Amino acid sequence: MSFKLTYATMFNPPAEMHARFDEALRGVEQALGARHRLHLNGEDVAGVEEDERRSPIDQRRVLGHFAVASANQARQAVEAAHAAFPAWRATPWPERVRLLKRVAALIEERVYLIAAALTLEVGKNRMEALGEVQETADFFRLYAEEFEEKNGFDIPLPDDPLEGWTSHNRSVLRPHGAWVVIAPFNFPFALAGGPVAAALVTGNTVVFKSASETPWAGRLLADCLRDAGFPRGVFHFLNGSGNEVGQALVHHPRTAGITFTGSFDVGMRIYRSLANGPWPRPCITEMGGKNACIVTANADLERAATGIVRSAFGMGGQKCSALSRLYVDEAVADALVQKLKEKMAAIPLGDPRRQEHWLGPVTTRRAYDNFARCVAAITRDGGRVLAGGERLNEGELAHGFYVQPTLAEAPQTHPLFRDEMFLPILMLHRVQDLGQAVQLANDSPLGLTAGCYGSDADLAYFWENIEAGVTYANRPQGATTGAWPGYQPFGGWKGSGSTGKAIASFYYLAQYQREQSRTVV
Ligand code: NAD
Ligand code: ALA
Repeated sequence: MSFKLTYATMFNPPAEMHARFDEALRGVEQALGARHRLHLNGEDVAGVEEDERRSPIDQRRVLGHFAVASANQARQAVEAAHAAFPAWRATPWPERVRLLKRVAALIEERVYLIAAALTLEVGKNRMEALGEVQETADFFRLYAEEFEEKNGFDIPLPDDPLEGWTSHNRSVLRPHGAWVVIAPFNFPFALAGGPVAAALVTGNTVVFKSASETPWAGRLLADCLRDAGFPRGVFHFLNGSGNEVGQALVHHPRTAGITFTGSFDVGMRIYRSLANGPWPRPCITEMGGKNACIVTANADLERAATGIVRSAFGMGGQKCSALSRLYVDEAVADALVQKLKEKMAAIPLGDPRRQEHWLGPVTTRRAYDNFARCVAAITRDGGRVLAGGERLNEGELAHGFYVQPTLAEAPQTHPLFRDEMFLPILMLHRVQDLGQAVQLANDSPLGLTAGCYGSDADLAYFWENIEAGVTYANRPQGATTGAWPGYQPFGGWKGSGSTGKAIASFYYLAQYQREQSRTVV
C-alpha cells in the first residue's frame, strides 16, 4: 500500500483507496456462492450442516454456504485447545509476538478484499468496512508491541534481605488455558480479532465463535491466522448459534476464560454460567450501549449537529457506541433540531457498495422488522417523530433492509430511552440545565459511551459526573463513536462491561493472565 489506513483517512480518503476497493469488490462479487468451512485442530473441516447467507443489501444475493458446527465440535475444539495449551504457553513469547505481527501484515495485505466482504455481509459502507479491517490489524500489532514493551509481563521487584538470606522477587503474568472468544455481528472482524490477538499473545489457546449472522468475516479472520502459521490446535474457528455452539463453549469445564462481545442479556447469562464452574474463571463481557449526548446552552450547535448525526446514524445505529439518547438544553433545542433535520435530509443513503452512499441497510431482517415496531412505539407511548420513520422499499432498495434515519422527541419515561434498539433512531429530550441532563444520562443500567458539547466549565462538570467508560467532548467527528486502538481505550461501565478495563488500553492484556509471584533465594 502506498498509504496507511488510519482513522483520519476514513474522513478524507484518497482516490486510490476507492479504486482499490472497487477492484476488490468486483473480484469478491465474482466469487460469491462459495462453500466455507470451519477450522478445527489445524484443519479446515465441514460442519454438521450448511447455512446459506444472503446480503442485507439485496436478499437475492447469496454470499456463500457456511459450515455450521455442532455442539460436539465445539467441545472437541475446547479439548484440542486445552491439549495444545502447555506447548503454546511454553513457546518463547517473542515467537508469539512474531506470529501476531505476521497476522497484522496478512490482514493489511488483504484489507480491500476483507472490507469488500464486510460491506456485502454486514451492509456497512466502504470506509466503515476498511476502517474495521485496519483496526483489526492495529489490534494485532498493538498487543504484540505492548507485550514486547512490557517484557512479557515479567517484572523484577525489590530484593528482600531477611536473616542473612536475600530473596529475589519477580511478578510474572501467566496465561489461563483454552480461551473462548464469542463475537457480535456488527464488528465481526475487529471485535473477534482484538480478543483473539490478546488471548494468543498472552499464551492462551483460542476457540473463536463468530455470530451466526456474520460467518464470512469470521472465516476471513481464520484464514489470516491459519496462513500466519500458528501451531496446530492453538486456534480454532467455529460458526454456529449461540444457543447450541455458544452454550457448549460456555459450559465446557476446560474453558479457562471467555471474552464475550454482544448484548447485555446474553452477556449476563454467560457471566452467571461461568460463575457456576469449579472455580472462578475470568469472563470479559463487552456489552450493550444506550449512549447519551448532552448539548448545553453554550454549545457550538453546528459542530454538535455534525457529531450527533455521525454517531446516531453511522452504520445504521448498529454500533455499541451509537448515540441513542440526546439531552438538549431547552434554550437551544429548536435550533439544534432544525440543524439535525437538515443534515439528516442530506445523508446519502443507498447501496453501500457505491462510493457516494454513507448509509446502507441494517444487517438483519430482525432489525428491519424491529425498526417498524420501534417507530410505532414512539407515538404509542407518548412521543413524536420529528424526522424519518419510514422503511424504504422502492427501486433498487426493494430487496434490502433499508430504513430512514429517524429523530424522535419523547418524555424521559418513554421505554425507548431505556431499551437498546441498535437502529438509526435517536431519542431527544429537552432539559433545563446540565445537571438535569447528566442525571438523565446516568439513569440507565448501561454506561458505555457518552458525549457533551458545551463550555469548558460544562465539560468539567460532565466529566466529574458522567457514568460512562468512553467519553467525548466537542467532537465533530462523532459525539459518542469513533474509538481507535492506541488512541481511545474502549470499554463500558455498569451493564456495558464486566471489568471496567478497556479494549486496547494499558490494562487490557493483563486481564488474559494470572499473576505468579516468584521468589527465590
Ligand atoms: P448477541 O448478544 O445477540 O450475540 C453476540 C454473540 O453471542 C453471538 O456470537 C451469538 O451467537 C452469541 N450468543 C447468543 N446467545 C448465546 C448464548 N446463550 N450463549 C453463548 N453465546 C451466545 O449480540 P449481537 O446482536 O451479535 O450484537 C449486538 C450487541 O452487541 C449489542 O447489544 C451491542 O451493543 C453489543 N456490542 C457491544 C460492544 C462493546 O464493545 N461493548 C461491541 C459491539 C457490540
Ligand atoms: N470502534 C467503534 C466506535 O468507537 C466501536 O464506534
